[in-house]
Amino acid sequence: MNIIRVSSFFYSPTHTTEKIVNAIANGAGIDPLNIIENNLTYPGYEETLIDVEPGDLVIIGAPVYAGRISLTAIERLQKLKFAGNPAVLVAVFGNRNFDDALIELREIATGLGLHPVAAAAFIGEHSYSTKKFPVAKGRPDALDKGKAKEFGNQVARKIRSLKSLDKMSALALPGTFPLPERHVIPPSHVETDFKKCNRCGECQPSCPTGAIYYRGGYHTKPELCTICCACIKVCPQNARIMMSEHVKSFSEMLFTTCQDRKEPAMFI
Ligand SMILES: Cc1cc2nc3c(=O)[nH]c(=O)nc-3n(C[C@H](O)[C@H](O)[C@H](O)COP(=O)(O)O)c2cc1C
Repeated sequence: MNIIRVSSFFYSPTHTTEKIVNAIANGAGIDPLNIIENNLTYPGYEETLIDVEPGDLVIIGAPVYAGRISLTAIERLQKLKFAGNPAVLVAVFGNRNFDDALIELREIATGLGLHPVAAAAFIGEHSYSTKKFPVAKGRPDALDKGKAKEFGNQVARKIRSLKSLDKMSALALPGTFPLPERHVIPPSHVETDFKKCNRCGECQPSCPTGAIYYRGGYHTKPELCTICCACIKVCPQNARIMMSEHVKSFSEMLFTTCQDRKEPAMFI
């Protein structure tokens, strides 16, 4: 099978998934002009989507939340449709575990009309990582990106060696199938510390769900906040504060239990 273009679709509030998806796409050996990025992260993303063509290799990337694919990513992916393109599935996790995320992504991709041919779980700096409690700080690093590029190269070689996708069996992936009930993340949100905030406004466009609004200062609609931590990471004043005690103690627990460097897992 020939690959004419690579079309990627990713959701990535803190940009780690985006970096890995881009490295995989760059490894596929395609003219950079034929690598099409569809970023599903921000409100209004629908208006920038580029139609997928029959010769496209599709890459789907999303972060792991509580061992599964982020719900916002699922919601946005579910609106897409494909016509039998080969697909690479990418889950990015914060050095704890990706649990059932790749299986979930496989089921979603198959439902959208894709043929998953390969999958990978890469490591990104944990959304909850802080200066005091760093977890997977700075990842993906050069080593991760190199592995992602090489993975993209191997996937492209595999696809080019295939005559058709029709007789391929389902991609075997680690995790529990059928998928168990989702673990419910206790509701919480991020707020502004008005003593530190200088109203620069960096936080507002970083929010993937439009949860931040300005009324004399930047506030959060709690019901829209997914605690993705994008606003915390972009705030130059460290003025965006996690409200949940549960998340604060969880990030301390991650710091003590997830220091050993994990390596990407790839399935071709
Ligand atoms: C609500 C929430 C739940 C998370 N759950 C997990 C998890 O189960 N395992 C893990 O290793 N990392 C977990 N993470 C960390 C993210 O998967 C990781 O930081 C990822 O790199 C974020 O991707 P992004 O940069 O594309 O937003 C979680 C992050 C958030 C915000």
